[in-house]
Amino acid sequence: MNQDLTIADLKERARRRVPKMFFEYADSGAWTEGTYRANEEDFHKIKLRQRVLVDMTNRSLESEMIGEKVSMPVAIAPTGFTGMQHADGEMLAAQAAEEFGVPFTLSTMSICSIEDVRSVTSKPFWFQLYVMQDRDFVLNLIDRAKAAGCSALVLTLDLQILGQRHKDLRNGLSAPPRFTPKHLWQMATRPFWCLDMLGTKRRTFGNIVGHAKGVGDLSSLSSWTSEQFDPQLSWKDIEWIRDRWGGKLILKGILDEEDARMSLDSGADAIIVSNHGGRQLDGAASSISMLPRIVDAVGDRMEVHLDGGIRSGQDVLKALCYGAKGTYIGRPFLYGLGAGGKAGVRRTLEIIRKELDVTMALCGERDVKNLSRNNLHKDI
Ligand code: GLV
Repeated sequence: MNQDLTIADLKERARRRVPKMFFEYADSGAWTEGTYRANEEDFHKIKLRQRVLVDMTNRSLESEMIGEKVSMPVAIAPTGFTGMQHADGEMLAAQAAEEFGVPFTLSTMSICSIEDVRSVTSKPFWFQLYVMQDRDFVLNLIDRAKAAGCSALVLTLDLQILGQRHKDLRNGLSAPPRFTPKHLWQMATRPFWCLDMLGTKRRTFGNIVGHAKGVGDLSSLSSWTSEQFDPQLSWKDIEWIRDRWGGKLILKGILDEEDARMSLDSGADAIIVSNHGGRQLDGAASSISMLPRIVDAVGDRMEVHLDGGIRSGQDVLKALCYGAKGTYIGRPFLYGLGAGGKAGVRRTLEIIRKELDVTMALCGERDVKNLSRNNLHKDI
C-alpha cells in the first residue's frame, strides 16, 4: 500500500478487494449523483496563493476540534456498513485514528457496536446518533455511548428519510449479504475479503440487533429507515437529546445560513456543514460552496466544521482557509479500509497529512491555525 500515493489509488485498490455492493454503497450519491460530484469538483475551482522565500521550518498541523487536541484537524466521519468494507472495519479504523491522533466517529449504522470499538481503543471516540421513533432505544443508545466514554455526540439532522441511491437498489444491498447467485458471485470474486469476513462474527448492525425491539427488516437500510427513523424530528428534540447526553454536542447536516443561525440557540458546540456526501438531497449545493457563507453567519459564535468532497490534504487546507475549524473524511478512509484494513486507514491519513503539510508550506504558512482566506485567490 505504500506505493499508493493518492486517495484515488486507494479507491482503485478497494474496488478490487471489496464486493461490488459494498464498494458501491460508499461510492454513490442520491439520484443523478450531481451533488456527490459537485462536492469534489467545487474544491478544484478554488485557487491557492503561492508564496515564496518564506521560512518553512518548524511547521505544525496540530489544532483543536471542540476543545480536543488533534494532530491535524481531520476527523473520521461516521459511515454506515463500515464493517462490510473490511471485517471488523470500525474497530480497525478507530485504532488507526487513535494512533494517528485524530477523532474517530462511530455511526449508529455501524457493524461493530459501541462496546466493540470501546474494547479495542483507549482514548474516547465520538458517536453519531440517528433518532428513531422508538425513544427507549434512542435513550439507551445515548446511555451506551456515555458508558463507553464517548467524548462527543454527533447528531445527524439530514436523514429523517433516506435519499434514493440507485446503486444500492440495483445491487440489493444488505448486511449480512443475501446468498443469491449475484451476491455469491460478487463475494466469490473477492476471496481475501471473504476469508477476513469468515474470521469475524460481526456481520450485521451491531448497535441495533439485540438492542432494538421489534426490528423488522433491518437488512434493507431503506425499509428500516422508513419504518424506524423519526420523520418528525425537530429543533425542540435537540433539548432532550442534549440533556440526556450532557456532553459535547455536534450537529451534522447544516447546509443553509438560516439553519446555521437557528443552531446557535441549540446549545451545540459545533455544526458540520454537510449534505451527507451528496447521498440525501441531490441538487443541493456542495458543502465547500456553502462553507464561507455559514462561517460568515455564525463562525464568530460557534465552531464550524466541514464534511463532504474532501479527497486530499489540499481540500482540507481550502476548507480551513474558509474558516472551518475541522474537517471530516468519509469515503477516503473507507477506501483505505477496503484496500488494506487498519494499515489502509493509516495510509489514508498519511496521504492527507503529507498533502496538507506540503501545500501549507508552499502557500507560505507554518501553522495550520494561521490559514485564512488570505491564502486563497479571490478572483481567479
Ligand atoms: C447512511 O448514513 C448513509 O448515508 O447511507
